Amino acid sequence: MIEFKEVIKEYPNGFRAVDGLTLTARHGEICVLIGPSGCGKTTALRMVNRLIDVTRGEILIDGQPNDEFEPEVLRRQIGYAIQQIGLLPHMTIRDNVAIVPRLLDWDESRIRQRVDLLLDMVGIDPSIHGDKYPRQLSGGQQQRVGVARALGADPPIMLMDEPFGAVDPITRAILQEEFLQIQQEVGKTILFVTHDIDEAIYMGDRIALLRAGRLVQYDSPDDLLAMPRDDFAREFVGADRSLKRLHLISVKDSMMQSVPCCEHDATLEEARACLERHHSESAFVVDADGILLGWVEKAALEASQSLSAAMQRAPAASIAVPEDATAREALSVLLSHSFDVTPVIDADGVLTGGVSIQRLQDLVEVPGIHAAGRDGRP
Ligand SMILES: Nc1ncnc2c1ncn2[C@@H]1O[C@H](COP(=O)(O)OP(=O)(O)OP(=O)(O)O)[C@@H](O)[C@H]1O
Ligand SMILES: [Mg+2]
Repeated sequence: MIEFKEVIKEYPNGFRAVDGLTLTARHGEICVLIGPSGCGKTTALRMVNRLIDVTRGEILIDGQPNDEFEPEVLRRQIGYAIQQIGLLPHMTIRDNVAIVPRLLDWDESRIRQRVDLLLDMVGIDPSIHGDKYPRQLSGGQQQRVGVARALGADPPIMLMDEPFGAVDPITRAILQEEFLQIQQEVGKTILFVTHDIDEAIYMGDRIALLRAGRLVQYDSPDDLLAMPRDDFAREFVGADRSLKRLHLISVKDSMMQSVPCCEHDATLEEARACLERHHSESAFVVDADGILLGWVEKAALEASQSLSAAMQRAPAASIAVPEDATAREALSVLLSHSFDVTPVIDADGVLTGGVSIQRLQDLVEVPGIHAAGRDGRP
């Protein structure tokens, strides 16, 4: 656990880079520090491992003030991935990852094992890349090595300063996902700095929004998006915050179990009754095992001799979303078809429910949207 208590960093010129920061990162959670350039994110991070001294206030590590540790001892116990990767160019990849274990005097065979395990973990094959130098690796590979190095001596706490900042968006997304998988296994307490709101929402258990050294809001991603505290927070999270929230919700958690649906060998009367029951203009059609085959529309039912003549067949993957998709993906499918409901299928293609626009609206109902409604705006 990391606790900031009324922490101030004031430079000799009187400038306060961090101004009264109180914040707790709980055990095993990723706490994201976010805010505009110069708002004090890096300063806050570097005060934790005492690369920068606190002017006033204190920082506790698992309840113990961090100024009770020797700075060197602290730095060996806290993993640190810095803003510009910072691999040492004259050292091989293995030696870079081994820096902290060597400082801790581990024996060489243990170091070798640990380093190769970590490189494997971050997707760098040690037998191919281990003896190369940083410049012989791509930016994305170097960032991976930077993360491996921060994990070097298995520290309980990690400070990560824009650890994926130096790569293109696609590589960054891959690194984010991989890192979250690693975090599921290792469960570190992490302070993670970024200035990218999407990264913060994706990576953070909680997000601390900073402005000019002060904490504006500290909340879960969903609460930050739903209830930004002031105009600055609202502007920072973006006008598309409802869409961003849909990104956080899984289809499984947002779907309705009951959707208009009939078996492909149903009679026309049965199909019509199904539409009426659901007050719907269309119904999904499934086989005897419940596998989604396509859909049928009311007008087609009136004009046809049988359900199979009236129905439109389509590969399930082209009209449905899997249960593990996000609500935002369900919306995207909804917008590209004329259905009222996006069908949801399980891994076998069985129809398990659906997501309607009304349902999505209910999910993202936020105070801001209500306020706009009351003002008479759409
Ligand atoms: N030695 C110093 N003396 C005075 N001001 C300083 C000093 N070092 C840093 N600052 C100021 O402290 C503020 C916070 O810097 P910091 O590096 O923490 O910002 P940041 O939020 O990490 O920004 P970025 O997103 O650009 O990395 C900046 O305005 C910077 O100019
Ligand atoms: Mg910084």
